[in-house]
Amino acid sequence: MSTWANLGLQDSASPLMEQLIFFHDHALLILVMITVLVGYLMFMLFFNNYVNRFLLHGQLIEMIWTILPAIILLFIAFPSLRLLYLLDEINEPSVTLKSIGHQWYWSYEYSDFNNIEFDSYMIPTNELPTDGFRLLDVDNRIVLPMNSQIRILVTAADVIHSWTIPALGVKVDGTPGRLNQTNFFMNRPGLFYGQCSEICGANHSFMPIVIESVPTNYFIKWISN
Ligand code: CUA
Repeated sequence: MSTWANLGLQDSASPLMEQLIFFHDHALLILVMITVLVGYLMFMLFFNNYVNRFLLHGQLIEMIWTILPAIILLFIAFPSLRLLYLLDEINEPSVTLKSIGHQWYWSYEYSDFNNIEFDSYMIPTNELPTDGFRLLDVDNRIVLPMNSQIRILVTAADVIHSWTIPALGVKVDGTPGRLNQTNFFMNRPGLFYGQCSEICGANHSFMPIVIESVPTNYFIKWISN
């Protein structure tokens, strides 16, 4: 989860998020190079006294400064498309979790396991334990096994919500009347926090998501109660 003064991305907990961070850093580096170059050129213009009274056209330089930025943009476009299709790929999931957005809580269904279902509400500040995270902890956490492919089906019962977990690189809208799909692979144990990210009404900020990533045998123990 994010803590004080964490302005960047959270540490990744899945291979896809790791790739997203690599792409972010790659794009940012290109952005910095462009900004420095253009900034330098604009700054240097202030100290330029040269005048060319006969300048009407410059075909060659126009060609260069049109094609060159286009080529630079390809270095962002191709890795971006690679990531886009990588995020969309589903790799034989071993567990499927269904998340349903409500005003204002999430409910979950484990369709593979006797259709276990439960609601997950945020713990109000006045009921929060001293080691709890305010506006982020829930009464019933999702428990999922680490090191396995997990499929998430997202929908909503009333208005549009969005099931978002930054550390896993997951962000899927839950839309009434639709069923969206995504998948992820958690490569370490821990608690992963998320929040709804579609403006869904008065308590939009108060329907967080908590995933408990545990070893597979622990998950089996939990699911069989
Ligand atoms: Cu649900 Cu915002």
